[in-house]
Amino acid sequence: MKPENLDRFYRFHSLIYDFTRPLFLPNRLKAVKALNIQPKDSIIDFGCGTGYNLQKIIKINSNVNIKGIDFSKYMLKKAEKKVPLGQFFTGDIKNIKLEMKADKIISSYVLSMIDDWQKAILNMKKHLKKNGVLVIIDFHPFQGKLKPLYPLFNFWLKAHGVYARDEITGFVKKHFKSVEEKKYYSGYCFLLKAKYPLN
Ligand SMILES: C[S@@+](CC[C@H](N)C(=O)[O-])C[C@H]1O[C@@H](n2cnc3c(N)ncnc32)[C@H](O)[C@@H]1O
Repeated sequence: MKPENLDRFYRFHSLIYDFTRPLFLPNRLKAVKALNIQPKDSIIDFGCGTGYNLQKIIKINSNVNIKGIDFSKYMLKKAEKKVPLGQFFTGDIKNIKLEMKADKIISSYVLSMIDDWQKAILNMKKHLKKNGVLVIIDFHPFQGKLKPLYPLFNFWLKAHGVYARDEITGFVKKHFKSVEEKKYYSGYCFLLKAKYPLN
C-alpha cells in the first residue's frame, strides 16, 4: 500500500485493530521472544502499528530502550498511549534515518504491505549493530494441507494491499551471515531471525 494511503486506511482500522488482528496476525509473541531481550537492549520496531510488540517487550524486560516507527499517525497515537516508555517516529521505514544503531530490530506483518520491501530491509540493516538481531514475521504463501485455500486467502490479502512473499528469506540471506527461518500453520506465516549483518 502506498504510504499516503496508509493513513486513510488506518484512520478507521486503528479503532478496531487491537480487537481484530490477533486472529489474523499470529505468533507475534514468538517473534518478540526470538529477539532474546537482554537488559539495556536498544530495540526498534519497524512498522510498530499500535505498539503490540513493544508492549510485550517491556513486559519481558522494562530495562530496555524502545523505539517504534510507523507511517500512520493514528496507529502511533494508540502506541504512544499503550507504551509510554517508548519513543515514536512518524515516517516511511524504507528511508527514515534514526541517528543510532539498535541491538535488536523487529518488524511484524509490515513488509507484505510494502512494494519496495527490499529497501525497507536494507534500512533495517543500516540501523542494526554488527552483533545485532533482526526478527521478521509476515504472511507467506500457504503450503501443505492449506495450499488449496491459498488463492482465496491471497485474493483477500490483495484486496487489502497485502502481498505474501516467499522471496524475503532469500534476500535476507544475502545480507546476513546467519539466518534461521520457521514456517507456521502450513506456511500461513514465517518467522525469520537474522544475525550478523554483512557489509
Ligand atoms: C499490519 S500492521 C502491523 C503492525 C504491527 N507491526 C503489528 O504487528 O501489530 C502494518 C503496519 O505497518 C505500517 N506501515 C506499512 N507500510 C509502512 C511504511 N512504508 N513505513 C512505515 N510504516 C508502514 C502501517 O501503518 C501499519 O501500522
